[in-house]
Amino acid sequence: MSEIDSLKAQLQDLQTKALALFADASDSKVLQELRVAYLGKKGELTSVLKGVGKLPPEDRPVIGQFVNATKTALAEALDKAEALLSVKEKELRIEAERIDVTLSGRTATQGVLHPVQQGFDEMTAIFSHMGFDIAEGPEVEDEFHNFDALNIPAEHPARASHDTFFFHAEGDEEAKLLRTHTSPVQIRAMQACVDAGGEPPLAVVAAGRVYRCDYDVTHSPMFHQVEVFKVDKDVSLANLKGVLQHFLSAYFEKDVPIRLRPHYFPFTEPSAEVDIGCVFCNHKGCRICKGSGWIEVLGSGMIHPNVLKAVGIDSTVYSGFAFGLGVERLVMLKHGIPDLRLFFENDVRFLRRMGSST
Ligand code: DAH
Repeated sequence: MSEIDSLKAQLQDLQTKALALFADASDSKVLQELRVAYLGKKGELTSVLKGVGKLPPEDRPVIGQFVNATKTALAEALDKAEALLSVKEKELRIEAERIDVTLSGRTATQGVLHPVQQGFDEMTAIFSHMGFDIAEGPEVEDEFHNFDALNIPAEHPARASHDTFFFHAEGDEEAKLLRTHTSPVQIRAMQACVDAGGEPPLAVVAAGRVYRCDYDVTHSPMFHQVEVFKVDKDVSLANLKGVLQHFLSAYFEKDVPIRLRPHYFPFTEPSAEVDIGCVFCNHKGCRICKGSGWIEVLGSGMIHPNVLKAVGIDSTVYSGFAFGLGVERLVMLKHGIPDLRLFFENDVRFLRRMGSST
């Protein structure tokens, strides 16, 4: 075969192979690669052209035309394939992004506040409206704030009943503990006032987590308390009773009868446990109040002079009342929740039922 015929045959082959490949290309990226492979500077067509130099001069224009025709054929085939693919790709994209407007919409589920948080919010709001300031204290406490300053010295029997979680952090001189009640916030708030050169009146509400090594149907090792106290000149038991009456009626959203029963707490003198008329039987007597018509809700009293002394407040000038309550207990009474553990199991059915979106 002559040189020129062999070149023509090569070009013919190249074109047949290329057109088949172009037609088969699955996407525009593959097609782009084929364009470079055939028509690019270092492509197949260029390498065939290298043979043209060996031809006698009279044959060169002939093969030149042939090469151009091949080039045009390839370029046209590429353009056509590209146009087809771009239509196909657009259709695929539209299909993938298709939205069925006849389907019903997805509603966004809204979270709700945990009932304990709702309790905190409702209770602190009531005290806030009465003019009490909101305070916080640390959950990791020391013995001074949790016990000593509250008139519960080292050998005091009440200390043992607190079932305290103690721990000794490395490098710490003193043992630390998880606070067993929110009463240490009384000490911290009074100290902060005295340290700042201030003096009473002080009216504070503090809500937070407390810890006791205790677990059964009515006890959880972590639970929540709200602590309230007021220190001023001439604060009396009557003030305590008035604040309690207002708070409990506001929280239960009805006029609940209350009574103060003498009790003992080291940090108050006198001390009283506070009962409300049973909210389940309207004070008549039922299974829940064991027929008495009364339910115990919190501990209270007049702040012990030793507590005021511990923080440097003159107990001959100032007096105060204090009380502390279990948040879960009050929320259970308000909503008729039968089991404390429901608060901590995070069953969304319970949480949703108790939910409020505010
Ligand atoms: N701190 C007590 C406890 O956890 C509750 C308490 C009782 C707080 C009497 C008070 C109070 O402020 O006056 O059991």
